[in-house]
Amino acid sequence: MSQPKKATLLIKNIGQLITMAGPVPRLGDQMKELGIIEDGGLAAAGDEILAVDKSDRVEGQIELAEGCEVVDAKGGVVTPGLIDPHTHPVFSRTREAEFEMRIQGKSYMEIAEAGGGIRSSVRDLRQTDSETLTAKTKKRLDRMLTYGVTTIEAKSGYGLSTESELKQLEIIRDLNSIHPVDMVPTFLGAHEVPDEYRDKRDDYIDLVINEMIPIVAEKKLAEFCDIFCEKGVFEIEASRKIMTAAKKAGLKLKFHADELASIGGGELAAELGAVSADHLVYISDAGIKAMAKSGTAAVLLPGTTFSLAGKQYAPARKMIEEGVIVAISTDCNPGSSHSESLPFMVSLAALQLRMTAAEAISAITVNAACAISRGGKIGQLMAGLKADAVVWDMQDYRELPYHYAVNLVSKVVKSGKLVKI
Ligand code: NIG
Ligand code: FE
Repeated sequence: MSQPKKATLLIKNIGQLITMAGPVPRLGDQMKELGIIEDGGLAAAGDEILAVDKSDRVEGQIELAEGCEVVDAKGGVVTPGLIDPHTHPVFSRTREAEFEMRIQGKSYMEIAEAGGGIRSSVRDLRQTDSETLTAKTKKRLDRMLTYGVTTIEAKSGYGLSTESELKQLEIIRDLNSIHPVDMVPTFLGAHEVPDEYRDKRDDYIDLVINEMIPIVAEKKLAEFCDIFCEKGVFEIEASRKIMTAAKKAGLKLKFHADELASIGGGELAAELGAVSADHLVYISDAGIKAMAKSGTAAVLLPGTTFSLAGKQYAPARKMIEEGVIVAISTDCNPGSSHSESLPFMVSLAALQLRMTAAEAISAITVNAACAISRGGKIGQLMAGLKADAVVWDMQDYRELPYHYAVNLVSKVVKSGKLVKI
């Protein structure tokens, strides 16, 4: 008979252990259920959770391995490791000048049309070597980890040539193998039309379909394909064409949809069976209904609206009422949302999307996992699942949105190990 596993990590004296045990995804009122164990304890063996229960019962049940790491949560809160399901982390130069231009009244689209925006990051990325880009991306991942984030979705989209898109995806692959933060890679070749194709947009669409998608799929450098489906960028028919090709190549789909105008992006994402559609500030009622029906997750990005000084936020309450899977993310990127802090997005979700702390926590754990096709695998603390957890310096989980713009993370456990933050 095999020996029972011994614990290599034990977290005890947890005032509120937020397990998120229960339905996957969390829909409607289920988003309020956090599966809380008071006076909880959590034990892990290797990278797996061994036991989750009352602290004294966990301690009574398990044997500690020699050198077992024992963490005293001192009555604080423990949650699953946070999941950020929409980021653009591979870029070099930051764009603070554009931030100032927006403060002075220019819109995101005006700046983009004048050659700034995504295209300026593309020009910059193409001339930056992989080593520099890797170092800068790593710094962002390190910072995410300090905010309790243990898994992210990571997009390309600042290369917009076959060579430079591959360069970004290879950086994501290589960093994924050495950094504690897990990355789920997404190909975003249809992020914008690059400078050299401005007067032959159809040729760029052909390049994405006939060259980039097949190579990315063949090299298995991405799990998802995303697109900036927006008025003046890739509109509905071009998006349908590109995303149908991506689906045929075996990539799962994500959309930047209805961010700045209502053009039916949510409906198209649902029609094509996308795993998620993101932004959705201007989604129509029909789009919400279609996404609820197709099970397409809505990844809401309140930091983007905040950073663009937008007046209108995504209709989160309506989506929750209609039974859409709602997740929250940073959209971390150099243009529209330069932040690695998922907890700050929880504060914005509370104040601007009118989501309660419990709903927002569901949106950055279980539902965020569903938005990257990892539902039931991460985002919950249950025996047998990956031991990714955060110990917080707070006594009540409702402090998370309320005590805003400060970092309340005390310790981060990734794959069963305490990581240095
Ligand atoms: O999600 N909207 C398109 N893409 C990014 C912005 C990228 C950028 O401005 O560099 C977004 O907001
Ligand atoms: Fe984005």
